[in-house]
Amino acid sequence: MTINQKFIDQFVNVTSKAALASFYFIGKKDKVASDQAAVDSMRSELNKIDIKGQIVIGEGELDEAPMLYIGEEIGTKKGPEIDIAVDPLEGTNFAAFNLPGALSVIAIAEKNNLFKAPETYMEKISANVNEKEVIDLDYSIKKNIHNLSEYLNKKPEELTACILDRPRHNSIIKELKNLKVKLKLITDGDVSGALMVTDEKYKVDIFMGTGGGPEGVLAATALDAFNCAFQGRFLFDTEVDKIRAKKMGIKNLKKKYELNEIVSGDSIFCATGITTGDLLKGIEIKNNNFISETLVTHKSTKLKKIIRNEEKFK
Ligand code: FBP
Repeated sequence: MTINQKFIDQFVNVTSKAALASFYFIGKKDKVASDQAAVDSMRSELNKIDIKGQIVIGEGELDEAPMLYIGEEIGTKKGPEIDIAVDPLEGTNFAAFNLPGALSVIAIAEKNNLFKAPETYMEKISANVNEKEVIDLDYSIKKNIHNLSEYLNKKPEELTACILDRPRHNSIIKELKNLKVKLKLITDGDVSGALMVTDEKYKVDIFMGTGGGPEGVLAATALDAFNCAFQGRFLFDTEVDKIRAKKMGIKNLKKKYELNEIVSGDSIFCATGITTGDLLKGIEIKNNNFISETLVTHKSTKLKKIIRNEEKFK
C-alpha cells in the first residue's frame, strides 16, 4: 500500500503547523499575510516528507503563485508518487476578521487519483446517503428534498440544508424556504459546510450550492472516507477559464462528476482548526505549548477521527 499510516502523523503535522503559522495573523485584517504564513509553513513541512509529491490543487498556476502552485513537485522525492491537494488557509476572511471556522486543509491520494481541479466555481451537492439516485445535481431542489426526506425518514421541515449565503443562491434559498427546509447559511468556508453532513451532531442533512472547485475536491476526499454522496460540476464562465480547463485535460466542460471520478483509491484528508468553528476547535496557546485539533480520514483503514495534539514550541 502506497499510502500507509506513517503518513497520517506527518500530514497532521503539516496542517497543524500551517494552522499555527496562520494563527499569528488572526484578526489582523490581512488576508494575504495569514494565507502566506500558512503556505510557507505547509510547503516547508511537506518538503521534509519522503514522497515524490505533486501539487494537483494549490495556490494557482505557476504564473500566479510561486509556492504550492499546480504541478509543483514536493517532498524529498524519495518515496511513493502522491497527488496532493492543499488549501493552507480555507476561509481567508475568517482569519482576517477573527471569525469562526478558518481551517488548514490537505488531501492526498496515489498518483493520478485526485482530480486536477481548475480555479473556478463548482456546483456541489452532498448528503450522508450511500445509495445512488437519492440526491443528484440534475434533480430539482424539490426532488432532492423529497428523496432525502424519504431516505432519512424525516419530514422536509425536519431537514437542514447548508448553503453559502450568496445572491447567486437566492432562487435555491427561496425554494428551500417554500419547502419549509431549515437553512444553515454560511458566509464562507464551504469545505466545512460540505463536511457537516458527515455526522448528525452538526445537524445538517444536505449541502448544496456553488463554491470553489478546489474546495469541492478537498471536501470530496473526506466525504469519500465517510461514505457520503457527493457530486460536482465545474462552471466555466469566461473564455480564459475554458482554455485553462482544456489545458488541464477537461474535455466536456459541462460534465457532472461523481465522487469516485474526483478521488479514487486510497486517500488521506486532514483539516486543522485555526479559529474555532462548527467542525473543529482553533489553535490554543498554553504556556509553552500549542494545542491543535485535526479531523483526519484515511480511506483504506476507515479512520475518521478528530485528533487533539499538544506540542511544545521548538
Ligand atoms: P478563501 O479561503 O479562498 O477566501 O475561500 C473561502 C470560500 O468561502 C470557500 O470556502 C468557498 O468555496 C469560496 O470562498 C466561495 O467563493 P465566493 O466567496 O466567491 O462565493
